[in-house]
Amino acid sequence: MSALTELERRAHAELAACVDAAALRMWHTKYFGDTGAVKLALAQIGKVPKEQRAEYGKEANRVKDALAIAFDAALVKEKDRALERSLTEEVVDVSMPGRNIERGRLHLATRTLREIYSIFADMGFQVYRTREVETDEMNFELLNMPPHHPARDMWDTFHTTTPGVLLRTHTSPGQIHVMREMAPKPVRAILPGMCFRYEQITTRSEIMFQQVEGLAVDQGISMGDLKGAIQAFARRLFGQERKIRIRSSYFPFTEPSIEVDVDCIVCRGKGCGLCKRTGWLEIMGAGLVHPAVLRNGGYDPAKFSGFAFGMGPQRVALLRHGIDDIRLFWGNDLRFLCQF
Ligand code: PHE
Repeated sequence: MSALTELERRAHAELAACVDAAALRMWHTKYFGDTGAVKLALAQIGKVPKEQRAEYGKEANRVKDALAIAFDAALVKEKDRALERSLTEEVVDVSMPGRNIERGRLHLATRTLREIYSIFADMGFQVYRTREVETDEMNFELLNMPPHHPARDMWDTFHTTTPGVLLRTHTSPGQIHVMREMAPKPVRAILPGMCFRYEQITTRSEIMFQQVEGLAVDQGISMGDLKGAIQAFARRLFGQERKIRIRSSYFPFTEPSIEVDVDCIVCRGKGCGLCKRTGWLEIMGAGLVHPAVLRNGGYDPAKFSGFAFGMGPQRVALLRHGIDDIRLFWGNDLRFLCQF
């Protein structure tokens, strides 16, 4: 009996001295493990003389229950202490600003293109994509420029190692692709995409740039339709009060050919740095599709006519946002890209 009393006293004292969960586990093994002190004390019951056995057994079980309860209580207390420790020692400053998630966005060039698409979509134009690597035939010959035609000088060209295959210098070869697919049905399409020219890279010219070609082919299409479409487009993009000006020009694949200006969006025609004191900004080349080109596309020029235009969407963005260096478009400098 005195051994039980001693066991209980020692167990309580050691339990009270446990400072963490590991110590508690060790205590538990020492007293309640398979060879633990409590187990051993219980095993003694059978060996105690008969007349003391009942009393010893009762006491042994009482000690066992008391220690088990004390252990559970100590475990709960230790859990509270651990939580307390983690709250004070590993402080989380909930007032600290969170980490920002970098959000991507569409490139200015893409955004400008999409704006142009939606304006022309409202006028019934579909977006049509054509290849960037073209044949000499598509890029030049079928557009009314036979080999050695002097007009080819307007487009400095990247040639591939395969003779007759080149990087398109403009989106105009797409006109032939669309017409050949659609003929003899009417066409109303815009053709966006990358173009390439073997040029010196400056603030105003790049070796790669986007164009948006427009093409309408039907019976009875006139210069008036072209002017109306361009006027409507310019006003939607640059503002309702915009005026357009049409100058005579030359392209081998249109006849007559024109160049289109809008009155300067900064000075409204008075003359400033952006428009180089002219009051006008050039936005596109255009014209009525040349009969030879219509024929190459599969249309009879006696019945069909059409208009075409070509513009540089980056130039459009340049003008609208007052950007002074076209190289910024493909330079991938986030300081530039994040502004839009
Ligand atoms: N392809 C011409 C260029 O790149 C632009 C253009 C397109 C002109 C369609 C007239 C008609 O300069």
